[in-house]
Amino acid sequence: MKFFVDTADVKEIRELNDLGLVDGVTTNPSLILKSGGNIADVTREICDIIDGPVSAEVVATEFKEMMREATVLSKIADNVCIKVPLTLDGLKACKTIRADLGRQVNVTLCFSANQALLAAKAGATFISPFVGRIDDTGYDSMELIAEIKQIYDNYGFETEILTASVRTVNHVKQAALIGAHVVTAPPATLRALVSHPLTDKGLAAFLADWAKTGQKIG
Ligand code: E4P
Repeated sequence: MKFFVDTADVKEIRELNDLGLVDGVTTNPSLILKSGGNIADVTREICDIIDGPVSAEVVATEFKEMMREATVLSKIADNVCIKVPLTLDGLKACKTIRADLGRQVNVTLCFSANQALLAAKAGATFISPFVGRIDDTGYDSMELIAEIKQIYDNYGFETEILTASVRTVNHVKQAALIGAHVVTAPPATLRALVSHPLTDKGLAAFLADWAKTGQKIG
């Protein structure tokens, strides 16, 4: 499973990348706002750190303007993956970006299996179902991940399921069990994956016993 970090915070991205945990990055207009930076500058800085896909989102809602923005964003760096919303114009842009710009496309704001089917037919590189936002409405987001997985497997679609809007470590585990290809999670959630109280307790006991030996390694 690939791990993307869901942030435009360059410091966080650098730290997680140094841990070897980052296969890519996802940003969106809200995360750019939070970063306080300019989209071109922030995206360029992230692309300089990360070799994998860095999603940058168009904000136009009409095909022609989406294509103009996609062209601008794609010039920032070779690993910019263009993010488009799951609308008819977005799907048309997805197909055209793949064909004309040769860029990876992340189709975002997916909340149903039929939407994911459309994105795959449009040649999306990634489909982003928003699991946290689905759970917020009282539905089970993992049913959606499982449905998309089954549909993609049924027809051999190459579009990768990029589990987004991740809020908990359980989202990561459940998505991995179902076989989602990618998870994009906030830095704190990625870090939290390592935590287990028995690991902390066990390490404390080993260190205490080691101190009693009076030994040093090397
Ligand atoms: C990632 O591509 C999405 O934009 C992001 O995961 C949305 O997360 P949120 O629901 O926490 O805003």
